[in-house]
Amino acid sequence: MRDRIQIVEVGPRDGLQNEKLPLDIVTRIDLIRRLADAGLRRIEIGAFVSPRWVPQMAGTLELSREILKLKAAGAFAEDTQFSCLVPNVRGMEDALKSGVTEVAIFGACSETFSKKNINCSIAESFIRFRQVMEMARYHQMRVRGYLSTAFGCPYEGRVSEARVVRLVRALIKMGVYEVSIGDTIGVATPKQVESLLKKVKRISPLSKIAMHFHDTRGTSLANVYASLRLGVRTFDASVGGLGGCPYAKGATGNLATEDLLYLLKGMGYRLTPNIQKLQPIKKMIEEKLGRELPSRVGKAGAWLVEDTV
Ligand code: HMG
Ligand code: MG
Repeated sequence: MRDRIQIVEVGPRDGLQNEKLPLDIVTRIDLIRRLADAGLRRIEIGAFVSPRWVPQMAGTLELSREILKLKAAGAFAEDTQFSCLVPNVRGMEDALKSGVTEVAIFGACSETFSKKNINCSIAESFIRFRQVMEMARYHQMRVRGYLSTAFGCPYEGRVSEARVVRLVRALIKMGVYEVSIGDTIGVATPKQVESLLKKVKRISPLSKIAMHFHDTRGTSLANVYASLRLGVRTFDASVGGLGGCPYAKGATGNLATEDLLYLLKGMGYRLTPNIQKLQPIKKMIEEKLGRELPSRVGKAGAWLVEDTV
């Protein structure tokens, strides 16, 4: 229980990328500031992708520059890390202009999803990633890798474990410091998670693995528990359970950060983020988006869990 758990807050990126109503940059910056104030230390703040594909992420360059200016002025805790998605060299050029020191490349485990999401095959995407990695190495930037549709694809159905393991290995070999394995459409169950992680463990220490669950079918916390038992200590989540993917129909919200914190704190893990401070953030986003967010703890309250910050 003394192992350090890391939460990667993906609300400002994964959370907002699927919303019908794009939020303006001022609101997105306010959201990021509040999340950091609530104690979140790894925050994905945007995506350097085509605004024609994902208009909700337009303005990521301006937004990142502002966030980094605020960081330089001491507005955030020293150890707060900000990251953005980058699909190709063009995206990486924008990342370099912004000054972010961490980016994430994002591939898929199924061909159709890869094509629909980033307009290329898996093999082509790895050629692009290699170019991004070279630039990152030159500029001493950290790179995270994502693998979507690791448990199921909205177009192809089941995805083979062998393929996922092969892709995890390929990303690590390429030099990413962590691979986030994504249940993009929320179909995984603990049995599947255990089975996959046992195989991943043979090729990589689980300290290099993060799990990214969507709560589409209500299995995300059970999947976190299964991952914890196997030794995973990094989880992606989004405030309020915001989220989805524009290229995965029916992909509802990410696992809610509050729900994840409630489980982990209740199990005795010590974590910096404060559940009480996330409540008004969820409310603010609900007001801006004009819809209720699905987080259970957000609705019911945190009850007797102690916040340390
Ligand atoms: P493309 O159309 O193949 O790109 O898009 P292209 O190279 O043919 O260029 C076409 C135009 O796009 C050109 O502009 C380029 O300059 C421009 P034009 O000359 O026509 O005016 N372009 C760009 N503009 C801005 N930023 C760029 C960029 N690259 C080219 N980086 C591309 C390829 C990857 C850009 C496109 O498919 C795209 O933007 N896709 C984004 C998809 C996305 O963001 N999806 C959501 C995130 S993934 C996810 O949610 C899953 C995850 O959460 C994990 C999980 O849940 O499992 C990570
Ligand atoms: Mg996602």
